[in-house]
Amino acid sequence: MRSVLSGKKVLLGVTGGIAAYKTTYIVRLLVKAGASVQVIMTPAARDFVTPLTLSTLSKNPVLSHFTNQEDENDTWNNHVELGLWADLMIIAPATANTMSKMESGAIDNLLLAIYCSATCPVYYAPAMDLDMYKHPSTQHNFDQLTSYGNLMIPAGDGELASGLSGKGRMAEPEEIIQFIEKDISSKLPLRGKKCLITAGPTYEAIDPVRFIGNHSSGKMGAAIAMELANQGAQVHLVMGPSAVLVHHPLVHRVDIRSAQEMYDEVHRVIQTVDVAIFSAAVADYRPLHPVGQKIKKKSDTLSIELVKNPDILASVGAMDKKPFLVGFALETENEMQHAFAKAEKKQTDLLVLNSMRDKGAGFGVDTNKITIIDKDKNISRFDTKPKTEVAKDIAYEIIKRIL
Ligand code: C5P
Repeated sequence: MRSVLSGKKVLLGVTGGIAAYKTTYIVRLLVKAGASVQVIMTPAARDFVTPLTLSTLSKNPVLSHFTNQEDENDTWNNHVELGLWADLMIIAPATANTMSKMESGAIDNLLLAIYCSATCPVYYAPAMDLDMYKHPSTQHNFDQLTSYGNLMIPAGDGELASGLSGKGRMAEPEEIIQFIEKDISSKLPLRGKKCLITAGPTYEAIDPVRFIGNHSSGKMGAAIAMELANQGAQVHLVMGPSAVLVHHPLVHRVDIRSAQEMYDEVHRVIQTVDVAIFSAAVADYRPLHPVGQKIKKKSDTLSIELVKNPDILASVGAMDKKPFLVGFALETENEMQHAFAKAEKKQTDLLVLNSMRDKGAGFGVDTNKITIIDKDKNISRFDTKPKTEVAKDIAYEIIKRIL
């Protein structure tokens, strides 16, 4: 199952307590979840676990000092850059000493400098002996650190390295990861929202072996489905014939073939969704009389009478009570003019325009170049980007209008 930590940039701060040996497992779990991990150690932490172990597991050199002293050209470890790089910071174990410096703002090592520069969420997992844990100064620091917005991963009860038994044992690596995953999931902007997406081409049967179709790959719609699910939405993906795989626990995929099947599936669920995105390349026409048997090669010419398919997007746009509606327009000429007309006709909240004339846009390719037109005719233009990045831009434009 995909973790919300996948693709996240994580700073893992390790301080000098015996529980530091357990951070090797934290690194493993983060890497397994698909996160990029940069380990920062306090000088004291290096006595408890080796930088070599953590750099090998994290696949990144471990940083401990303001400068790289082993390097004869001595380079500066830029704490501001590192602080801004991260999506989240974890300090585990967090010793009483480091916590008191986090509380007061004392910066006598690289880890604390990064902590003070970081603008991302900071989680910390205290680890210490039971009397240290109970000490009023430690309890005061917990309250203060919480008031600064840091998130404490509570220590557990149990056997301590001193031989004593009580509260102060660092949470187990699995518990730390679960705590963070749960916290991230609970804060995702689209949590609790339901989204419908149409994607891919439609195939309109001529006879049992032939169809009218188009070159749509379904990649753009699949990328949007993944992105909305990553933002916490429950996604209903109605997909025409496409080889693209979509694996996400929050994406429910329904495969259809024809425009009529897509129409039926969309209208089956439309009243239950908050957002509907129509990225499918729906065939405008279908054979009026699909033939039951394979058509034989007889005459020199063959005419197939076509009839218009229902316009799925327009049918939803015309509803009284409708979800936030996003349409797509793929144009080859007079792009803006056609896009404005389409937005009005289909009553979209957002219209995503891609022009076949733009390099790196359109069917089959992994990139796209889009322009978004909103209900008030505001225009946002975007650069050519991978479809996964385009999906983020589209999700952002939706989120900022519906929340
Ligand atoms: O009119 P045109 O096909 O250019 O409009 C494109 C937009 O309308 C896309 O969002 C597409 O998914 C949607 N559409 C639809 N049903 C159709 C034709 C297009 O939902 N039959």
